[in-house]
Amino acid sequence: MLALRFWAGFWLHKTCFVTIHAMQSFNTDSDDAATPLATGRKVIVGAINDLRPGECVRIGLPGGEELAVYNVDGEFYATENFCPHKGAPLSEGALCGHIVECGWHGWQFDVRTGECLTVRDKIRSYEVRVEDGVVSVIL
Ligand code: FES
Repeated sequence: MLALRFWAGFWLHKTCFVTIHAMQSFNTDSDDAATPLATGRKVIVGAINDLRPGECVRIGLPGGEELAVYNVDGEFYATENFCPHKGAPLSEGALCGHIVECGWHGWQFDVRTGECLTVRDKIRSYEVRVEDGVVSVIL
């Protein structure tokens, strides 16, 4: 029984993605320059205990912009929320370590840098601060 519990735990913690990517030829160049948000603005996300390790949350901003905030083993990261492929919310994707996989077609992004691991592209990443147990994002 103990061995079964060990293997079940191992499976749940070490196996995140099964997506096998074929090379895709999508044009990911942005056609529109996104409206820049005011920089230096601090957005309060919530208490550190509200976002458990391995979880991600969507933060709506004025103007329809959204952030995805991730807890990776107690370290917090933030990126824009919309996948550059077809616009899926990355906050609803699968988070495995520092990689979030889009739930629609499986593109993967490093939440630390915003780098796309599937095609040559990048999403915006943001500075995250934790002060007095409160997580905030600097835009
Ligand atoms: S919307 Fe297609 S990979 Fe994200």
